[in-house]
Amino acid sequence: MSEFLCKITEISEAEPKLVRVQGQRIVVVRVGASVYALEASCPHYAGPLNEGSVCADRLEITCPWHRFRFSLRDGSCVAATKRPAAKTFAVVVNGDDVFADIPVKETEDR
Ligand code: FES
Repeated sequence: MSEFLCKITEISEAEPKLVRVQGQRIVVVRVGASVYALEASCPHYAGPLNEGSVCADRLEITCPWHRFRFSLRDGSCVAATKRPAAKTFAVVVNGDDVFADIPVKETEDR
């Protein structure tokens, strides 16, 4: 489901921005005219990718905890092989509004 993330004017160039959508923490990154969205929890040990650093030239974000690097485009871990990828979401920019396809997380009924 396409969810509103933020206004594009709220995203500074190559500065990760944390947003919360559907109870999920999403990190939004803008490089030039392109916007990327990833799950903010690092797939390694759940480090905060929103506190990571962005390399605009390589389109990568580096996790602040163990320095693994992830592609902004597909979430693949580019610093190490056989590591899980960061989850990414398809982004659409409509005017000033940034949307992403964020699946609703399934909850357990107990
Ligand atoms: S928690 Fe992100 S690299 Fe380890």
